[in-house]
Parts: sequence; C-alpha cells; structure tokens
Amino acid sequence: SGPVPFYGAHQAGITTPAQDRLHFVALDVTTEKKAELVELLQEWTAAAARMTQGKEAGTFGAVGGDPEAPPDDTGEALGLPPSGLTLTIGFGPSLFDKRFGLVDRRPPSLADLPAFPGDALIPEISGGDICLQACAHDPQVAVHAIRNLVRIGFGKVSVRYSQLGFGRTSSTSRAQATPRNLMGFKDGTANLKLEDTEMLREHLWAAPGDGPAWMDGGTYLVTRKIRMHIETWDRAPLSEQEAIFGRDKGVGAPLTGRDEFDEPDLAKTGPDGKPVIADDSHVRLAHPSLHGGARILRRGYNYVDGSDGLGRLDAGLFFMAYQRDPRKQFVPIQQALAAKDSLNEYIKHVSSGIFACPPGLADAGDYWGHSLF
Ligand code: HEM
Repeated sequence: SGPVPFYGAHQAGITTPAQDRLHFVALDVTTEKKAELVELLQEWTAAAARMTQGKEAGTFGAVGGDPEAPPDDTGEALGLPPSGLTLTIGFGPSLFDKRFGLVDRRPPSLADLPAFPGDALIPEISGGDICLQACAHDPQVAVHAIRNLVRIGFGKVSVRYSQLGFGRTSSTSRAQATPRNLMGFKDGTANLKLEDTEMLREHLWAAPGDGPAWMDGGTYLVTRKIRMHIETWDRAPLSEQEAIFGRDKGVGAPLTGRDEFDEPDLAKTGPDGKPVIADDSHVRLAHPSLHGGARILRRGYNYVDGSDGLGRLDAGLFFMAYQRDPRKQFVPIQQALAAKDSLNEYIKHVSSGIFACPPGLADAGDYWGHSLF
C-alpha cells in the first residue's frame, strides 16, 4: 500500500487510520552534548521522511555506497512498498532534566503519571527520554524503520525497551471496521476518530495557551503495557465477560442496545433493579459522562511476547492513547478503572510511559524537536 504524507500541521501516525502493525521503541539519550542531540534529531527526520515514502534510510542505500563502508540502509525493506509507514516522535519527562537546559521548557501537561492501585510496573520497560512509534501494514517495514533509526542513533542514544504489536485494537477512522483485542471483544467502538474534527480540536491537539508554544498543534501520548491473564479469561463464562465490558461480544453493542454504535444507556435498570451496564463495568467507568466529557484517542496494539516459561502466553494489550492533557483525560479515567473495574481481575499494568509529541513538520527544512530546541 501507498505512502502517508510525512509533512503536515500534525505528526502522522496519530489520526492516520490505524495500521496493522507496531514497532515502538523508547530510548535514553546517552550523549551529554545538546548539539549532538539536535544533529541526531535532524538526521532522524531526514531518514524518517525518506523511509515513510518507501525509500531507503540514507541517500546511498543498502547497496549503492562505498563497498568498504557499512551501508546507510540495512536492506531488509528493499523492494517492499511504503506499506502506510508512519513515524511519530515523543519526548519523555526525563529529557527535561538539567542535561540539556530544557527544565523551563517542560509542559505542565507532561506531568509524571501518579501511581495507580494495582500497578505492577517494571522500571526497565517504563519511561524513556524519547519514544519512536512506527506503524505500518507490514511488520518488516515497521521493524526496518526503527532498526535504522536506532542504528543512526548509535553512540548518542541507547534503546531502553521496545515493543512489537499486531492487530490494531482501535479504529481511528469511521471508514475502518472495529478490530478485536485478545479478549475477543471489539475494541475502539467509542474512540475519537479522524472524522470528528471538532472533538479532535477539543480533546486531542494542544492549543495556544495550553502550555509552552513549542507544543501548539502537538499532543500527549500515554503508553501502558497491559498483560492479560488470558488462560483465566478463557475460563470465564460468556455472560461474565460481557458484564465486565458492558458490551455484547458478537456485535459489540452496549448491553442496553442492539447495534455496535448505539449509545450505552447508563441509567437503564433491569428487572432486579440493578443497572444493566454494571457499576463496575469497563465501559461505564471509562465513559466520558463520568469524567466531565473527557475523551482520548486510543491507538493500541495486541502483543504476544511468546510464553512465560510457566506455560502461559505472555500476551496482552500495548495500550497507547493520545490526548490534549493527560492530567484531565488519561489520569482520571485510569483512576476510576484502577479503583473498581471488574476487568482488573484479568489484567496487570506492567509498563508505563508518557511523552510530549510535538506538532508536525512544515517541510524538508524542518526537523523533529525544532520548536523545542
Ligand atoms: C472502551 C477494552 C484498558 C479506556 C473499551 C471497550 C473495550 C475495551 C472492549 C469497548 C469498546 C470500545 O468502545 O472501544 C480494554 C482492554 C483493556 C482496556 C481489554 C486492557 C487490557 C483501558 C485503559 C483505558 C481505557 C487503560 C484508559 C485509562 C477506554 C475508554 C473506552 C473504552 C475511554 C470508551 C468508553 C465509552 O465511551 O464507551 N475498552 N480497555 N481502556 N476503554 Fe478500554
């Protein structure tokens, strides 16, 4: 499939209709020189502009350069189409420490996430100074892009952790069918979508006056690796599974409706006088009406990292959500979920990240982070 434009008011890979595959990496900056970091961001931008258009990472490519030097592209995407590749960058809170003189540039919305009840976070796979999200319809194309960006960053950044994902768990456009997560439920039904221009302005993009001007037109990404206790889930009765989400498993309709896109009726009670969509159901607790209208753009992926040595799949959801201000969106929603979501019995949050994703780039003279440095 064809290329996604790299330049624009906002970064690609956010409202871009979610591609099938993910390769996400979080990096720590190892150089102490600001000039080297800026130079790297410029090199990365040039390589990203090329790769998203289906070209090789460097100008000589995998086989066109000096035979005595390492090639400036690793070669495994030779002959493959652009596959809808998008590359999206974000800056983590730790980049704004004393090293690069950015302390005053840190947006208040990039506040460290609070600890949530039930968190089982592993520090080695959480945080990071910089994140890069590669999404594409072909896993080889996504992996090639991240591999080459990491190669270019050798000596200036080191990989903190990375995550492969498949089977997008959200639709971000009304033109897309809603996919399913590994619990077998349609995921992304009530998501913010590309077509919701007015709501995107209100809930997704940072606007002038929100924080530092360098983030105007940007957005904030929260990542959570959420392990699923799949084997336990698979032994839960269908009626319990549906009660947990407050939706029907086949069609994805709210338990108070018939069609997938029917609005959940949170006030409706059954013959026993109890709410049809239970008080501890996921959809009720995450619903905008409980959070002053707050919405997020979910763009997560399923993952299976093999098995865990105890005969269980090491699998779950690599949750990713974009929003204008996590303090008013992700945080209160997750506080409500962590407190009483009946889904909690079947999941465990094992990694966490928050990143400020700057606005899009105007043209080839611009580079990732230009507005920040
Ligand atoms: C809705 C699954 C974690 C926020 C849903 C739905 C499913 C689902 C099946 C209903 C369909 C839909 O509207 O997309 C899961 C699973 C999770 C998880 C399996 C963990 C493994 C989270 C987290 C958050 C979140 C961590 C945010 C803190 C939401 C929101 C909705 C939703 C905002 C839409 C609610 C509405 O407006 O009806 N989720 N979710 N979810 N989820 Fe999750």
